[in-house]
Amino acid sequence: MSEKNRCYHVAVLPGDGIGPEVMEVTLPILEAAAAKSGAAFVFTEADVGGVAIDRHGEALPEKTRKVCEESEAILFGSVGGPKWESLPPERQPERAALLPLRKIFGLFANLRPVVVYPGLEEQSPLRRAAGMDLLVVRELIGGIYFGKPKCRKKDAAVDTSRYDVAEIERITDVAVTAARGRRKKITSVDKANVLATSVLWRETVSRVVPEEIELEHMYVDNAAMQLVLNPARFDVIVTENLFGDILSDLAASLPGSLGMLPSASLGKEKTLWGRFGMYEPAGGSAPDIAGKGLANPIAQILSGALMLRYSFGEESAARAIEEAVSRVIKKGCRTSDIAAAGKAISTREMGEEILNEVRR
Ligand code: IPM
Ligand code: MN
Repeated sequence: MSEKNRCYHVAVLPGDGIGPEVMEVTLPILEAAAAKSGAAFVFTEADVGGVAIDRHGEALPEKTRKVCEESEAILFGSVGGPKWESLPPERQPERAALLPLRKIFGLFANLRPVVVYPGLEEQSPLRRAAGMDLLVVRELIGGIYFGKPKCRKKDAAVDTSRYDVAEIERITDVAVTAARGRRKKITSVDKANVLATSVLWRETVSRVVPEEIELEHMYVDNAAMQLVLNPARFDVIVTENLFGDILSDLAASLPGSLGMLPSASLGKEKTLWGRFGMYEPAGGSAPDIAGKGLANPIAQILSGALMLRYSFGEESAARAIEEAVSRVIKKGCRTSDIAAAGKAISTREMGEEILNEVRR
């Protein structure tokens, strides 16, 4: 790796709500982890979401797009909030920034790891979630979200779910790669008893997944039930866009706080070191707690670790961050979302604890 200049250009889009405060504590941690292995970052900040609507009149300004185009990964905070909810849907931060970013950069693979950390079991609404450690691999730019025709007439509306073989193959490949580095089990979720796209999905996944990986197929309604009954049975779940949206929220409810869950959205485009990707916390902008120093920065910090792994191939730096987070949790550091009453630390303090652990 030494022949390459390991200086990574990252577009930093803090966005709205808690985005800026969790981003602020994340960047030094990324720098510290990279520095340890001789790499460095150039961060370029740009406006996205509601803050971009306020400053530039649109959620995804041309300038922000350009910053993203000139970068090798996007580190995303969160967008949206009550202030912009009365805008027409197509101008709102989520629809006008998040979905276009996914489409423009071809971010077809959405990875959402969901882990119940040792020490945080009591946060989960389910006792049986202890030991849960799964990864949702959600197809992100196909299916009913983007299929044409999509239209609204006065008394009727149409959305179209469409998948072709190549789209299913490439998301399955991502799931296979992920499963190889984990417990080597894939659950493919569909609705093949009803939907044509699901029949194609099942056929294609069956053909692509190699023998050494255990493969099971599950209908989406049953998958929802199994996630509640026995979440620890799952390793990698691969599924289409809409099912992945719903099931990943269901899974994300089980650790007890959204503030711990990172995500990666990977494109087909390659960087010198990995894939172009966008990395963001699974939780939203949490406007109710924004600006109060209450937000848990761990989801943003772990999203940064995923960026080191998938876009830059810096496995040891990624691990250093993940292990630092585990140690800090084990030590008992808790922001208010994961604290028993009365003894919570602030966003900044949590950031400092993790930074110190990374530097050790
Ligand atoms: C998500 C969100 C988005 C989605 C919305 C905000 C468009 O729910 O990232 O899961 O449905 O994909
Ligand atoms: Mn969602």
